[in-house]
Amino acid sequence: MPSIGLIGGTGDLGTALAIHLSKKYEIVTIGSRNIEKARATLKTILQEKGAKDHLLNHLKSASNADVVSECDIIIATLPHENAIETIKALAKNFRQEQVLVSAVAVLSKVGSQFFPSRGLESIAKQMKSIVPNGVEVASAFQTVPAAILYKEREISADVLVSAESSNTYEKVADLVSSIEGLRPLYVGDLDLAVELEGLTALILNIAIRNRLKSPTLKINSF
Ligand SMILES: NC(=O)c1ccc[n+]([C@@H]2O[C@H](COP(=O)([O-])OP(=O)(O)OC[C@H]3O[C@@H](n4cnc5c(N)ncnc54)[C@H](OP(=O)(O)O)[C@@H]3O)[C@@H](O)[C@H]2O)c1
Repeated sequence: MPSIGLIGGTGDLGTALAIHLSKKYEIVTIGSRNIEKARATLKTILQEKGAKDHLLNHLKSASNADVVSECDIIIATLPHENAIETIKALAKNFRQEQVLVSAVAVLSKVGSQFFPSRGLESIAKQMKSIVPNGVEVASAFQTVPAAILYKEREISADVLVSAESSNTYEKVADLVSSIEGLRPLYVGDLDLAVELEGLTALILNIAIRNRLKSPTLKINSF
């Protein structure tokens, strides 16, 4: 069973994912730039959620650097403005055969609207160019609201995944499927990550314009 780590795991999305993943994986590590903040986040989770077995036994805290050195699958839950500099600083800690999943969304607010603020290259593809050869990269989770996951309310949502290969996709799909109510859907290769990174802006506008609380994506087929 792979060990899971979250870089920037002290934020809303990282914390929420860590809680769910600790129900299925032996080791789920919340990473931070500051180990004390990671420890404090773990303490807060235990206070708010109670001393449940899966939290006590499977949830750990560490520095971002130790997360990258020690975990098999690393999820980057970082603000887009800091994602690339963070991965650059951690690049030497990565090793072959790890999987790096970017949950980063790229958006800005102009007036009352959110816009996907795309660069020429997606954050996920930039990450791919920074990490050592043999680290597999994917992009996912951009349309999953952290608040709903954290509350552990019943959820039914699709997680769109772009991945550098179908083999990488399968590894990320296992991770996504381990969270009850989430269904992974393969979108295509990393060239499509830029589209996923822009979806959060649309979801936020949909929430505001239609007064929907924590909307998410669910693809129907007939
Ligand atoms: N929240 C959601 O519902 C949601 C849903 C889908 C996608 N996303 C995307 O997922 C990513 C994470 O979202 P979030 O809401 O969890 O973000 P967040 O709470 O704003 O930040 C996550 C973590 O990033 C680290 N961080 C902050 N500034 C940093 C810097 N200058 N350098 C390096 N690390 C820094 C912090 O960890 P430390 O201080 O502990 O290092 C922070 O706890 C974002 O790209 C967001 O757009 C969010």
